[in-house]
Order: sequence, then C-alpha cells, then structure tokens
Amino acid sequence: MYIYGQALKELEKKVDIIRYDYEYFSKFDSIDHVRTRIKSPESIINKMKKDNLELTYKNMIENIHDIAGLRIICPLKSDINTIVKYIREFNDLEVIKEKDYVSHPKESGYTSYHMIVKVPVIIDKDLNKITAEIQIRSLAMDFWASLEHKIKYKPNGEINEDVSKELVKCAKSINKLDNKMVKLFPK
Ligand code: GTP
Ligand code: MG
Repeated sequence: MYIYGQALKELEKKVDIIRYDYEYFSKFDSIDHVRTRIKSPESIINKMKKDNLELTYKNMIENIHDIAGLRIICPLKSDINTIVKYIREFNDLEVIKEKDYVSHPKESGYTSYHMIVKVPVIIDKDLNKITAEIQIRSLAMDFWASLEHKIKYKPNGEINEDVSKELVKCAKSINKLDNKMVKLFPK
C-alpha cells in the first residue's frame, strides 16, 4: 500500500499548487479542506468479489481505481469547475475518466465530481503510474454525502424506501441552497 500513499502525497502537492494559485489571483480560497484515504484490504477484496474478479494482484491494479482516494471540499458549488480545470491542466497527471454527478446526480441524490487519474510516482528509482480517485464537492454536497453514508451504514439501520425518498428531497433542497450561495457571493 506504500505506492498508494506516495500517490496521495503527490496529489496533495498538486492541491497546494491549486490552492495558492487561486488565492493569489482571486483573494478567495477555492478549497476548504482535503481528505485522503487508502482503501482497506477488506474493502478491496469485497469490491473485487462484487465485480467477479479473480483475486490477483494484477486484477487489483488494473480494475480497482479507488485504492488511493482524495476528496477536495470547496466552499462553493462553482469552485468545482475551477478545480476540475486545474487538474486537467497538470501535464504530469493523466485523467483517464471523469464522472459528473453534479450535472447528473445519482438516483440516491448523491452529487459530486469524480476524476480517475494516473499519478507519476518514483518507487525504488523506477517511475510508476499509480491510479487514484479524486472526488470534488462543495461543503453542502459533503454535508449530505457524509450523513447519507452514516444513515445507510448505521448498525441495524435498515434504510427503507421512505427514507431514501426523503434523502433525495434533502439533496434537492441542499442543491437549491448551494445555487443560492453562488449567486450571493461577490464576483
Ligand atoms: P464504487 O461505488 O466505489 O464501487 O465504484 P463506482 O464505479 O460505482 O463509482 P462511483 O463513482 O459511482 O462511486 C465511487 C464513490 O463515490 C464511492 O466509493 C463513494 O465514496 C461515492 N458515492 C457514490 N455514490 C454514493 C452515494 O449514493 N452516497 C454516498 N454517500 N457516496 C456515494
Ligand atoms: Mg458505486
């Protein structure tokens, strides 16, 4: 798992570059905070089983793209686009997939922007390209996603259809507030 830790360190350096560049030119902060995590071996195995993959190292490297995960939380919904553009501009980052759940929320109500990237990492003098998942979302989107995750994975907490529907409604209300805050913010 060392290589994934190194990939996350590289990505955190990129986030710092974005943070300082944006702040220098706009006087505002486009990033509230960043979280990183490495997927546990247990979760990796579960995901591979779910996807009917034979449990080999090669299959893991080639198919599980979110072993290294970095989440960027920004104050405003409109900051997401800015950050996505910065990430696309880094010459040494290869963006291999993008999922826009901001324009197209998931059925659950989940909104966020996902990017799968390949990060160059030097390991024992060799250059390796390590895959990582970047999730970019506003504070309001993160508020919803964190609580929804807690509600769904609560011990004994069975999630029925009514709760699911209420969660979708909450996501829609939060989205309205997110849009309002963008309008209120001085340009
Ligand atoms: P996995 O969901 O990781 O198996 O991969 P996938 O290929 O379906 O990717 P997707 O982009 O849909 O989701 C990847 C990650 O986004 C998840 O691991 C979660 O962190 C987050 N996510 C996706 N859907 C939801 C959701 O409905 N609620 C919450 N709270 N998080 C979600
Ligand atoms: Mg999923």
